[in-house]
Amino acid sequence: MKIIIDNQEVQAKEGMSVLEAALQAGIYIPHLCKHPDLEAVGGCRLCSVEIEGREGAVPSCKTSVEEGMKVTVNGSGAVTTRKMAMELILATHPADCTGCPKYGKCELQSLYQYMGVSPERWKKKTRTVATDESNPLIKHLFTRCIRCGRCVRACRELRGVKVLDFQKTEDGGVRIGTDGNVSLKEAGCKFCGACIEVCPTGSIMDALGVMKEDMSYAENIVPCKTACPAHTDIPRYLRYIKEGEYEKATAVIREKLPFPETLGCICNHICEDACKRNELGKPLSICKLKRAAAAEHSKEWKKHRKVAEPTGRKAAVIGGGPAGLTAAYYLAKKGHEVTVFEANEKAGGQCRYGIPAYRLPDEVLDREISDILEVGIKLKLNTKAETPEELLAKGYDGVLIATGTHQGTILPLEGNELSGVMLNAEFLKKARENKAMSLGDKVMVLGGGNVAYDCARTALRLGAKEVHIACLENDKSMTATEDEKVEGKEEGILLHSAHSFLRITGSNKVEGVELQKVDKFYFDENHRAVIESVEGTKEIIPVDNVIFAVGQKPEGTDKFGLELTHGPYIKVDDKSATSRAGVFAAGDVVTGTKSVIAAIAAGRKSAEQMDLYLGGNGDISEELLDKEIPKSYFGRKEGFSELPRLYPVLLESDIRKESFAAVEKTFTCEDAVCEASRCLQCDLRLNLTSPKLWNEY
Ligand code: FES
Repeated sequence: MKIIIDNQEVQAKEGMSVLEAALQAGIYIPHLCKHPDLEAVGGCRLCSVEIEGREGAVPSCKTSVEEGMKVTVNGSGAVTTRKMAMELILATHPADCTGCPKYGKCELQSLYQYMGVSPERWKKKTRTVATDESNPLIKHLFTRCIRCGRCVRACRELRGVKVLDFQKTEDGGVRIGTDGNVSLKEAGCKFCGACIEVCPTGSIMDALGVMKEDMSYAENIVPCKTACPAHTDIPRYLRYIKEGEYEKATAVIREKLPFPETLGCICNHICEDACKRNELGKPLSICKLKRAAAAEHSKEWKKHRKVAEPTGRKAAVIGGGPAGLTAAYYLAKKGHEVTVFEANEKAGGQCRYGIPAYRLPDEVLDREISDILEVGIKLKLNTKAETPEELLAKGYDGVLIATGTHQGTILPLEGNELSGVMLNAEFLKKARENKAMSLGDKVMVLGGGNVAYDCARTALRLGAKEVHIACLENDKSMTATEDEKVEGKEEGILLHSAHSFLRITGSNKVEGVELQKVDKFYFDENHRAVIESVEGTKEIIPVDNVIFAVGQKPEGTDKFGLELTHGPYIKVDDKSATSRAGVFAAGDVVTGTKSVIAAIAAGRKSAEQMDLYLGGNGDISEELLDKEIPKSYFGRKEGFSELPRLYPVLLESDIRKESFAAVEKTFTCEDAVCEASRCLQCDLRLNLTSPKLWNEY
């Protein structure tokens, strides 16, 4: 139908409000309590207009269009009503906006500026409701509340949680709050943040510290996705798991990485540290949920996988670990002819040879590598690649080096040359290859990270009767994850944290390690380690073997003819390019030993840059399932904020240390659904419409 607004003919649909018809036609009418995603209530009166044939000003948000209707936006009656309405709002709102975090983004501020009404002009009514900072994640500054009720309606209409309402205050006023003034947790809040998102002023805000200044708004809203080096869309796949749609969940994960089940077994899950649910107790078990989805081995995602027409360009990848294989996968999908050179008998890099099979079984890796190779990658095993220069000379148009860090570091310690001393990388690799090693009954691992635990737990499984770990750091500052420490302890690993290693004793072969208790361990301003030992605490622990697990570094990089840095690491620029044109490097060989997910992210980045170099557009993004609008009306769930984190079942410690069988079971479907339903679904906030301010019309 047609209506006339300010003498302008406007097309409108039946059922539309006058406000909607005007805004859609680009004609601005002030409005505040109406939010694009919420039903109109006609409360603030700021949207008042005049309509021919009707008496006085009417709220345009609550007035439906009628054929031929004639609307005047700025008639004197409407302007007076709007100004009066704004004066009433400002009478109880703080006059000085400069200290408000919403300054410059506040809808109220924008509106009074548009209307030429100053907040300072009006006599203030004092309001005594104090700021409520007692809830996790959400801060409520009642003095800035204009009682528009958007938060109440968002909580009810958009989410169905129904926690917020108008409450009477002791002084006869009204404020927003929970029934009985109980905490948001007690009231059943799901902490989705919709109330924050629709608040037009700075009244309901993210609690202090939730929004980080160095991150964009969207990055702040979904911190798990931001923290994941590959930026997997975590809330989206958790939502699918919650709905039991594992195929779709796997497709979402695979949009960003080709190793979902591998990561579900061994990822260091820094995303969980960023999960907002930490503020309510424990984070989501994101890593294990990923495993639960990927372990279904759905192949649906392959139907959407696209491999571009051949480009005629050839790429060589040196190193078949997570970084190299990820890069090879995306380069092959872009149509390039890719050959991966792998020096070992099998591909997988550190995932294969540096992580024990009880954490990552071979079949998981084999399955995911075979999916990767399917796109047409040539894999040359047991093949030490030639130098990048030689490969370029042989007709490769680009070379990626992703050889990782496979050489263990030995400390300059007395006795380090004795028979029975081993290095982490070599020890773990031999164990993975079932190669014979002469291991005594008693083993000491030196180091405080997860690799130290990998070595210690492997030694137990190889038959050692007594296994120790010693490290300089104390229990809290050692880098091994809590899981490793707990599981290691259950298996009988003896931990000597906060101990320095003075020497390895023995004449020809290892007989013991002398340790001393450490009082303080820190790095001085020159980054030198300072160790303050406790007098009189030296002791010799009798052992037959010592395994150094104090770091790993690249080997053989000096042969590549490239500029190196910090010793053996390959120097690259921010485009993954080395000092030689056409030669790129990625992963641990550049950064030092990091996580598998960091290597995968580096593989993706280098593939983008190499694709550009090879003449492509550098876009490796993909959609492996159709876009769907997520269900955002999720309703209440009693005790939601208290729901405990679920853990996958572990084999009993005395059974698991007997073999290299996987120690952890996959979540049952039921547990995966329960665990995924703990997600706060923070991302749904980003789907809410941002109201346009007057200067955007
Ligand atoms: Fe119409 Fe508030 S926007 S009454």
